[in-house]
Amino acid sequence: MPEQALLEQVVDKVRPLLGQGKVADYIPALASVDPNKIGIAVTTIDGTTIGAGDYLEPFSIQSISKVFSLTMALTLYEENEIWSRVGKEPSGQSFNSLVQVELERGLPRNPFINAGALVISDLIQSRLGAPKHRMLESIRHLSGNQKLISDKVVANSEYEHSARNAAIAYLMKSFGNFNNDVDTVLRSYFHSCAIRMSCADLSKAMLYLANRGKNLTGKQLISPVQTRQMNALLATSGLYDGAGEFAYRVGMPGKSGVGGGIIAVIPGDMSVCVWSPELDLNGNSLAGTAALEEFCQRLGRSIF
Ligand code: DON
Repeated sequence: MPEQALLEQVVDKVRPLLGQGKVADYIPALASVDPNKIGIAVTTIDGTTIGAGDYLEPFSIQSISKVFSLTMALTLYEENEIWSRVGKEPSGQSFNSLVQVELERGLPRNPFINAGALVISDLIQSRLGAPKHRMLESIRHLSGNQKLISDKVVANSEYEHSARNAAIAYLMKSFGNFNNDVDTVLRSYFHSCAIRMSCADLSKAMLYLANRGKNLTGKQLISPVQTRQMNALLATSGLYDGAGEFAYRVGMPGKSGVGGGIIAVIPGDMSVCVWSPELDLNGNSLAGTAALEEFCQRLGRSIF
């Protein structure tokens, strides 16, 4: 178990990095967030959560929601029904790139780039009547926080600026890899991305990734094998084009979001969440990555 003092030291160490990245502004409602935030929370498999800095402040989880979506899809479908629609390889392209979708005939490289997450949302839409509500309920349950909400302003702002995601979805539809109405699926996808959670909420909600698929309340969410597979995909594709650099510096499976959050896990031990809104060139939190690097080094832990 890391000590509270260690988390405080990590936050102090990376605070000077604030000001060096850039807050995401392609979703206008995200651009107004205070850039000077930094928080870290850790939940260990005994269920204890500790944190430092702004770890109790909710932020837009954005692409971190793709982990919850894939998990939900795994509970709704046979594996071949998922993996015939989306791949398991790193993309080597930015998270919202279109070119590969065209070149690879509508089959996204992995479930964490936007194209892959949209296919997963399409799958969920086909199975569930009200996916927005189900997703929010499931994340509330996972985090133990019944008060979580999806921010309508952020979701609408994304919808108003959805040309690129819509283009990706329509391109996949042209190849026969998208079944539902594009607009309906985009709405659900943005609703999940716009959920607001704190580092504490997220480290609790992601505990199943560290605990062989068992959530905070001890319920088996996905199997131990599926959990291992999910962590493998997070290690190779969770940080997009920055996955190699993240593996090198941090050495944990992880998932980032353009709201500045990053979740990471040490399987068998703990889940971690950091948040700092300014991003690096790959769209990953700059001070957040540095905080995780510092955390792993001080703890002397890595999965490698
Ligand atoms: O679809 C989008 O572009 C955003 N809702 C999510 C992108 C994102 O968080 C990428 N992560 N670093």
